[in-house]
Amino acid sequence: MFLDNNKYSKEKSRERCMNYWNPSRTQYWYDEGIGIMIGRREGYYFWDLDGKKYMNLHLNGGTFNLGHRNKEVLERLYEASREFDIGNHHFGSVTRGYLAEKLVKLSTKGMQYAIFSSCGGEAVDVAIKTVRYATKRRKIVSLEKCYHGHTGLALNTGDPFFKDPFLCGEGDEDFVQVPMNDMNAMEAVLKKEDVAGVIIETVPATYGFKIPESGYLKGVKKLCEKYGTLYIADETQTGMMRSGTLWAISLEGVDPDVIVCGKGLSGGIYPMSATIMTKEAGKWVEEIGRLHTSTFGGSELGCAVAGKVLDITTRESTAANVSMLTKYMKEHFDKLKMKYPNFFTDYTQRGLIIGLSFHVKDGGRKMMRALAEHGVWAINARFDEYVLQFIPGLLCTKEYCDELFEKLEKSMVDVLEREEMRK
Ligand SMILES: Cc1ncc(COP(=O)(O)O)c(C=O)c1O
Repeated sequence: MFLDNNKYSKEKSRERCMNYWNPSRTQYWYDEGIGIMIGRREGYYFWDLDGKKYMNLHLNGGTFNLGHRNKEVLERLYEASREFDIGNHHFGSVTRGYLAEKLVKLSTKGMQYAIFSSCGGEAVDVAIKTVRYATKRRKIVSLEKCYHGHTGLALNTGDPFFKDPFLCGEGDEDFVQVPMNDMNAMEAVLKKEDVAGVIIETVPATYGFKIPESGYLKGVKKLCEKYGTLYIADETQTGMMRSGTLWAISLEGVDPDVIVCGKGLSGGIYPMSATIMTKEAGKWVEEIGRLHTSTFGGSELGCAVAGKVLDITTRESTAANVSMLTKYMKEHFDKLKMKYPNFFTDYTQRGLIIGLSFHVKDGGRKMMRALAEHGVWAINARFDEYVLQFIPGLLCTKEYCDELFEKLEKSMVDVLEREEMRK
């Protein structure tokens, strides 16, 4: 097997990745002291090839919502592989039709079509093509410090940090960013009536899972309706029950025109994402549907897997577990806040979408490193130096939380001690 053969030792793998895969990325994590080469994985744990065990509190942004190598999802893959493969992207198919109907029926009011892709970025690209075709306008508005993927159109909606090195978007007036919670700034752009779509991640991950002010997203949707713009809810991370309901946007009382869904839909097993749209937004699929194709998007095996993922995700027991975990985590964070008021200053939480704020310079990154030492993998927020993204799985147990809380507090104490020594 792959993982118990010396050929695949950590050092050998590192060497190969440095020479043939992505040297600067590989080195970056070694420099951070988190040079993981991922080996065995199971449930909400994984092991470095050197044997160190980690609790997974990033889950690839929710990709492993149901845990690593979820047995039911794997079973569905094995079963489906007896009959299906990728399938033929020109034709409809049993699994594609089945998943599209299931997703549409589980989505917000007015949804009619689901178009499949292989990743979140590609699904965002489809969303942008969708709103442009429907409105015959080019401009797309996104929020500052947002992230919607690294593919072509998606990258253009994002921060210069990711765009500029690749010479994307410079001088491109089709992509405009406005600050979150600033309704006037949003209206100033929309009122020119040349904006095709507004794309917003319901609780923006890269911005530290900041929760939009009450009524902000609803207000943006109203402005969209007033000025003929379509609203795209990017639920790549926030969808799939992470908020305690299937789509976080439902908690805002907004029925978007388009929903983007990815990551967790794959079950962490088979790449799968979807752009779900209303009939009005989805004019292109009625009129020129053959002009967008993705060879692997809507793979039949992927659709079969995603169908099972949706079944598990929408079970009453799953929602109940998320609700239990939400309360349990909140209670614990409140206690920690009381105990370390000048350090653990705040947290944001929408169900299991959580950002923890640590008030020292680069607090998020320092906590990421300390947690890794204690065997917990969680990543800092790119655009808020104080925040650590905290992404527990939907099916975690109380015992898992208890183990986690202990490691979290130990890591906090470590960071505080190091800060004291630095003074
Ligand atoms: C909100 C959001 N949108 C889109 C994407 C892009 O997804 P992918 O990496 O699957 O292309 C991500 C990935 O992290 C994301 O968090």
